[in-house]
Amino acid sequence: MAKTAYNPVTPEIVAELQGIVGKGNVLTGAEKTEAYSRDETEAAVYAYMPEAVVLPLNARQVAAVVKLANRAHIPVTPRGAGSGLSGGAIPEYGGIVLSLEKMNRLLELDKANMVAVAEAGIVTNELAGAVEAEGLFFAGYPMSLQTCMLGGNIAENAGGGKAVKYGVTGRYIAGIEVVTPQGDIIELGGKLAKDVTGYDLKSVLIGSEGTLGIVTKATVRLIGCPTAKSDLLVLFKTPKAAIDVVPVVLAKGLTPTSIEFMDQLSVITSCKYLNESLPYERCGAMLLIELDGMNAAQIELDLIEIGKLCEAHGAQEVYVAEDRNNIERIWNVRRNIAEAFKAFSPVQSLEDIVVPISRIPEIIPKLEELGKRYGVQIPCYGHAGDGNLHATLVKDPAMSGEAWKRNETECLKELYRITGELGGKISGEHGIGIKRRGYLADIIDPAELGLMKALKQAWDPNNIMNPGKIFV
Ligand code: LAC
Ligand code: ZN
Repeated sequence: MAKTAYNPVTPEIVAELQGIVGKGNVLTGAEKTEAYSRDETEAAVYAYMPEAVVLPLNARQVAAVVKLANRAHIPVTPRGAGSGLSGGAIPEYGGIVLSLEKMNRLLELDKANMVAVAEAGIVTNELAGAVEAEGLFFAGYPMSLQTCMLGGNIAENAGGGKAVKYGVTGRYIAGIEVVTPQGDIIELGGKLAKDVTGYDLKSVLIGSEGTLGIVTKATVRLIGCPTAKSDLLVLFKTPKAAIDVVPVVLAKGLTPTSIEFMDQLSVITSCKYLNESLPYERCGAMLLIELDGMNAAQIELDLIEIGKLCEAHGAQEVYVAEDRNNIERIWNVRRNIAEAFKAFSPVQSLEDIVVPISRIPEIIPKLEELGKRYGVQIPCYGHAGDGNLHATLVKDPAMSGEAWKRNETECLKELYRITGELGGKISGEHGIGIKRRGYLADIIDPAELGLMKALKQAWDPNNIMNPGKIFV
């Protein structure tokens, strides 16, 4: 998208914003707004100060703020928890950050229709917990569920550790209330189980990274809460040996809930960060495999079969997690890897490549070769069961900042090229945002990119809605 010159947030605009959301819900001044300048992407590179932060209390207020911004030509950056990993919530052009944090209510639990209705700022774990208390399950949540918000999950079409069986957030979004870049409030989808009334605009909005509108409310699909769950921890000598097993298990028609992969450096780093110690943390790589469902006996049988397959395909040890506490410790190590690398290696690039499951074994040797070629360590972990791996380029402390910048860019280009050759894409769940926009044109067809840009232009002709994201 062409860069646009925007107007500043003047004291008059601040007064108008205060008139819409109330004085206490407009933040200005670096001290109060600094926390809204970044997300979980590398802060040293991706941080821009907003001129004002507004905290609306309802969709009418969101719409009024957007109308004002559209009229005055001021950029608006929608924001949930700021837990994104591609810079989607960062106000690169200043302007207004519109945080949904105060719109956090669960509005309705409609068991007859198996849906819940919640505001976009609800913390995903709160939604998940509230429906679980009623024996229901919201399966569309990502790894960061303890902090992330529903609206952000929808904006990014988040994935996570359960996508092998349950799919990603979008599958569970039956309807959304959206404020368009013109400040209209529209309802897309709803409680209907079937609906082909015109274009499926809801699906266009889901995963549009806040560039087409602001989700203010969502109707989420619920399913029965699984009553049984079991886990296997499988140790391997090398990362390649671990990954090789994944397509073998899936091709048997077994459907685990998760197949998570962690290489040695990922496990050790997370253990260090958590002050945790696992007896097998120095194994070459591990798979954490979970099954869930309604039939405990069937789960046990499937688990035994998966264990045997792993043994037959090079596993060193297969542990059935007998006790939930122990397995929760391992899951905790898995969930904290990204945070741990950020803490110990703040100069890094957390990647999110995704390839067809059958091609995933080919990635590992290529990562090892890439790392050697560019002098960059590339630890790797992630959702092996759906072909989505978080290869993380980590700067060696001995490498100069300049050399890192050069090597990082070249190494990323090469990584994305290889991913494309394997039939993959550059983001499975974190999105393009600011971080990957420079590489999008290399991975998708020019005609497809042209249609995406035309769509953006049609929805947001003044380019005020989260400008600078997805497109260069
Ligand atoms: C995870 C985040 C980084 O899988 O997506 O831990
Ligand atoms: Zn992930």
